[in-house]
Amino acid sequence: MDSVDIRSRWLDFFESKNSLKLSHTVVPSASLIASDPNLLLVNAGMVPFKPFFLGEVKPPYQRATSVQKCVRTLDIDEVGKTTRHASFFQMCGNFSFGDYFKEGAIALAWELLTKSISDGGYGFSEDKLWVTVYEDDDEAANIWQKQVGVPKNRIQRRGMADNFWSMGVPGPCGPCSEIYFDRGSAYGKEGGPIADEDRYLEIWNLVFMQNIRGDGGDKNSFPIVGELPAKNIDTGLGLERTAALLQGVENIYEIDTTKMVLDKASALTKVKYGKDEKSDVALRVVADHARTAMMLIGDGVTPGNEGRGYVLRRMMRRTIRNMRLLGSQDLVIGELIKSSIKAMGPQYPDLISGSERILAIAQAEEETFTQTLKSGTSIFDLAATQLKSEKSKSLSADTAFKLHDTYGFPFDLTLEMAREQGLGVDEVGFRKLMNEQRDRAKADAKAKKSGHTDLTEYRAIVDKSGTSKFVGYENISAEATITGVLVDGKSVAEANIGAEIEITLDRTPFYAEGGGQLADGGKIQLSNGAVIQVEDVQSPLPGLIVHRGSVVSGVVKSGAPVVADIDLERRLAISRAHTATHMVHKAFREALGETATQAGSENAPGRFRFDFPSTSAVPISVLNDVESRVNELLIADLQVHAQVMSQDAAKAMGAIALFGEKYGDQVRVVSVGDWAKELCGGTHVARSGQLGLVKLLSESSIGAGVRRVEALVGHDAYQYLAREHVLLNSLTEIIKGARADELPQRISELVEKMKSMEKELSAVRSAKALAATSQIANKAKKVRDINLIVEQLESEIAVDDMRSIAINLREKVKSGVVVLSTINSGKPLLVAAVSPEAIKLGIKAGDLIKIGSATLGGGGGGKDDFAQGGGVDVLAISKALTEITKLIEGKVN
Ligand code: SER
Repeated sequence: MDSVDIRSRWLDFFESKNSLKLSHTVVPSASLIASDPNLLLVNAGMVPFKPFFLGEVKPPYQRATSVQKCVRTLDIDEVGKTTRHASFFQMCGNFSFGDYFKEGAIALAWELLTKSISDGGYGFSEDKLWVTVYEDDDEAANIWQKQVGVPKNRIQRRGMADNFWSMGVPGPCGPCSEIYFDRGSAYGKEGGPIADEDRYLEIWNLVFMQNIRGDGGDKNSFPIVGELPAKNIDTGLGLERTAALLQGVENIYEIDTTKMVLDKASALTKVKYGKDEKSDVALRVVADHARTAMMLIGDGVTPGNEGRGYVLRRMMRRTIRNMRLLGSQDLVIGELIKSSIKAMGPQYPDLISGSERILAIAQAEEETFTQTLKSGTSIFDLAATQLKSEKSKSLSADTAFKLHDTYGFPFDLTLEMAREQGLGVDEVGFRKLMNEQRDRAKADAKAKKSGHTDLTEYRAIVDKSGTSKFVGYENISAEATITGVLVDGKSVAEANIGAEIEITLDRTPFYAEGGGQLADGGKIQLSNGAVIQVEDVQSPLPGLIVHRGSVVSGVVKSGAPVVADIDLERRLAISRAHTATHMVHKAFREALGETATQAGSENAPGRFRFDFPSTSAVPISVLNDVESRVNELLIADLQVHAQVMSQDAAKAMGAIALFGEKYGDQVRVVSVGDWAKELCGGTHVARSGQLGLVKLLSESSIGAGVRRVEALVGHDAYQYLAREHVLLNSLTEIIKGARADELPQRISELVEKMKSMEKELSAVRSAKALAATSQIANKAKKVRDINLIVEQLESEIAVDDMRSIAINLREKVKSGVVVLSTINSGKPLLVAAVSPEAIKLGIKAGDLIKIGSATLGGGGGGKDDFAQGGGVDVLAISKALTEITKLIEGKVN
């Protein structure tokens, strides 16, 4: 049974084809980019439903089913070595929000697993299935035994670590019951899941989600701090594990979808799968990681050095690294990503339409990494040579960390290269530095996103007073009531003048930073005269809008009525930028195709930036076309309007949906005329004419395969152009008689002229010096049999001319030594020419220059008969010449 079939049987069964007649709403997989501040990537099927379990948001359905994309990287080192660890997997889930509970969940699971294949089930034989329940969950054990008929000896009880599921952090949790498949005696010892989890493979976890987990503890024991508002069900069946069993293969890397990538890796490296365990592991790692990387890029992640970008970068680098271990030195990513898309495309059609973009990003990262490998290798070689000269045996933690952190060098590569050179690496020190850096990054990222990672206080506000209604699409001012005041992250009843506070309202016109749009600023006033100056607005929980700012007068009391006014000028300038971003986005897609999909943006007052994937710089002509297209449509004064509709309707009208944004069934589509249509929660102008003017400023690279365009809009764009105009006028004044459009030609002519004049001047100087050689030759000092000339020539004589003068002089004085200096572009230059007779005495041009250059703060060298060098310190020239003279005299006497 292929993966597509397993998926559709799952969805069909829960949508309608179960005997309990419990119909579930089919919810498409959410993006891998989690909208949860405590999570980097979606790692379980229940993540998108978390607010429903917690009662933060009322679920629009009571029962749901999904096949959710998940990424877990905690066990990344296990991938390829075991039968069941994958960094990307799909979790088939059925969910009940206060509807059916243990009995329903158990009955449904058993029915789907054991129903025959011809009847739409998975056809597992009942006597191969084992179950576990939480240690004191008699209710679940009874249902399994009495209602389902599982023999008592195949129901095992386990403790918290195995059978009490939580997200590992404060949040919903509950006892669970797991279903295992016995693969037979060839795979391990008898005795059920408690005895051997390789032989008994876990396939399905039924969580009876009814409790709230508190802070602290570990997986064996953590505090349960309360009950959820309702008793819920969250189940997860691993699609890949099920596929391995139903397809009769040994592990999840050999199932239909993953095997396609594995076979590609094997074909590219010409290493046969099954040859030996070491190459098999490498092939499995490649198959797993390449697919994960492709899925991440598909959902809008771009390679970077922190957060999700780093997860992706790590996946790709490990893929390339393993391909190298398998013997391939070629560019491999393109082929691996193509086969991953081919494998997953039937389940996720967006991957096929976005394949060009996915490939472009992946290939650019591979190129960057190839460069990294080159520069990292030379830095490693340097460090290794130094270590050897110091007779040291171990590479320091600092060097290994620098290689990793600055050059992106994988640590295992450093280890391996060190081993090849007979060196060790301070691994403990390296791990310590890594942990320190990780902690710093984590703290930064969390603080940025929610201000306080602990969301308890915000949750308490929502529990007590509900979320905040955003009324800022239509209003710039609103009457509201304070629902919470926080100082240093803790709820307070009141706050005094000077306090930095966070404040929540039941309704607000303030837009919280999101979707690339910066937050509104403004004021919140109480009737008692208290005023809060709002500096920032964030939404740490879905639907809750938190205003941050300082109390500039009076006393702020929780529960008091207020008037909230946003800074209108700032809002209008931000809205102009946001509408402009949509227009520029659309124009780029027209010019460059689908690849130019927005990968990030920032809409600030009067300016915006827009990032999109592209492997090479965008030609100026395209930038000009985009700018002119957008400005033409400003004059056309298109109407901008927002409409709320179903996702399907939005798709049907061709609206662009960006990644990482989690949309419910209803979405907001912002259209600029009938032209640019995009899913967006931001604020916009009413007509494109209000933008006035859009000016693209620059286009540059901001990392592997991502380009950034920066632009100005409205008054800021006008001011920029006005300043440029003044600048141009002053240039036409300097270059007398030139019209503005003649300037480029005139200036380049001037530059050319200057260059040739400089050349001429230098030639004249050299000729003069050459002509004076007889005079200089006369100054030769006789030291024993050697004629010695040490002379400082005038400035700006070209190196080649210095050389001819020195050689000419050496010939004139016959047996002798000539040392000359000059200053070129502010830097001292030295040359030395030595005749064969002098060389015989041990005077070598290279030695003379070495010592002279060192005195000048530079370096140089050459052969015995001629050498050149220089430095930076012009004041040290006579000292350098004296030292050289001393050296010569020492040799002669
Ligand atoms: N949340 C549970 C898990 O991830 C069941 O879906 O295992």
